[in-house]
Amino acid sequence: PPHVRIAPSILSADFARLGEEVRAIDEAGCDWIHIDVMDGHFVPNLTIGPAVVKALRPHTSLPFDVHLMISPVDGFLDAFAEAGADIITVHPEAGPHIHRSIQHIKSLGKQAGVSLNPATPAKLLDYLIDDIDLVLVMSVNPGFGGQSFIDSQLRKIEAVRKMIDRTGRDIRLEVDGGVDATTARQAIAAGADVLVAGTATFKGGRDCYAANIAALRGL
Ligand code: DX5
Ligand code: ZN
Repeated sequence: PPHVRIAPSILSADFARLGEEVRAIDEAGCDWIHIDVMDGHFVPNLTIGPAVVKALRPHTSLPFDVHLMISPVDGFLDAFAEAGADIITVHPEAGPHIHRSIQHIKSLGKQAGVSLNPATPAKLLDYLIDDIDLVLVMSVNPGFGGQSFIDSQLRKIEAVRKMIDRTGRDIRLEVDGGVDATTARQAIAAGADVLVAGTATFKGGRDCYAANIAALRGL
């Protein structure tokens, strides 16, 4: 079985104590920190910007997995790179030139991801897959934590897994939205190797984070 990485979404953390929360999930054994950036335009919610990413950077050495749900996105890529992002993921639905955005992220020396909304077909990756480091399959419509996993996305994960394997390159396949201990098993079986989880990581408070992360790993 693949090495599965757990990337808690800090959207479900206590925003008044974000630094402590990031340290707590690091100590609880997660692999990446997933940071959801929303603009009130591409998605109907507002979250955090580069200043917060920068403020969090000293609190952990784990990779910052920055999921940009903003449009237009290109003007913000430098700011997130400078703030300490390691992986920067963009949505093709958010702009007309996704390939340009990928080139831009790579030129900043960062890993580049492409995220597909639930209605966006895997085929969109045909002319991007050779240039990217990560595919993010959205298993909910982006904008909010706490939504239910959309089962049709399992077929998309299977399709993307085949595309990735055909490249022979090391590309992560991440699933985001409604991931809990049950849907985690289904997503892994379909080929995912990075699990984003907000609600399922932070439920029950700090004493539960380690057990919650272990449960996502199937332990
Ligand atoms: C949704 C975000 C997700 C979300 C996941 O737009 O991209 O990362 O916060 O939250 P849960 O795990 O609660 O579905
Ligand atoms: Zn996300």
